[in-house]
Amino acid sequence: MESAAEPVRIVRHGVVDSTSERAFAELAAGRARHCDVHVARGQTLGRGRLGRPWHSPTDAALLASFVLMPPRPWNAAALTIALGLAALDAVRAVGLDRARLKWPNDVVVDGAKLAGVLAETRNLDPECPQYVAGIGVNVAQRDFPRTLTDERAVTSLALCGIACTVEQLLAELLRAVPARCALVERDLERLEHDFIRGAELAGRVRLESAAGTIAGELVGLSIAGGLVVRDDSGGETRLALEHVRALAAI
Ligand code: BTN
Repeated sequence: MESAAEPVRIVRHGVVDSTSERAFAELAAGRARHCDVHVARGQTLGRGRLGRPWHSPTDAALLASFVLMPPRPWNAAALTIALGLAALDAVRAVGLDRARLKWPNDVVVDGAKLAGVLAETRNLDPECPQYVAGIGVNVAQRDFPRTLTDERAVTSLALCGIACTVEQLLAELLRAVPARCALVERDLERLEHDFIRGAELAGRVRLESAAGTIAGELVGLSIAGGLVVRDDSGGETRLALEHVRALAAI
């Protein structure tokens, strides 16, 4: 990725409820600036997607929330994809080449979750759009609570053999997030192309939506136009990205 134009301002916390909550509090107080990054050593109420908690042990994980205040509202799918790619760029930059994206923006290694992204807005005002992008990456953990591992496979940079500190990874993320977010304004095709590569989706895929599951060739993935999959009988299904529940290569 090219480097970012936006300067970032790091706001450091010890153990907090949630870095995203701290970012929203600064927005509410009128003190936030575009590209502020709230970073914590640990979280007591770290939150993940779909209302799940986010495991946030002290000094073992990267826990960061970016304040994003673009001039006009961003396409939600584009932002989701950009943030997943930023997390992927950062972990690859510290040496984890085999990391992949999993729909919509998990970073996984051999199917085990390494990082997650939660992009949130509150009362989005089109005149003054504000987003908080929370990113959590497992860095030094060598074990995880049973409640987590019973649900799904998880991993960390340490378990993947990458000796990297939270600070080193943060430095990469500080470059990657503004650079990828700049593409939301400038180059959706690049995001689409890099997402297909990062998730290894070129070829046969399985697509899950409210309408059911289909398998077939990925014909196209477009932020504006949605996803097109051609099934084995030659029929094509088109689906807006916000309706995609799961999408994976098979
Ligand atoms: C997911 O479920 O995949 C998203 C996880 C997002 C976790 C990060 S950690 C930093 C920020 N603060 C939070 O409370 N959540 C996000």
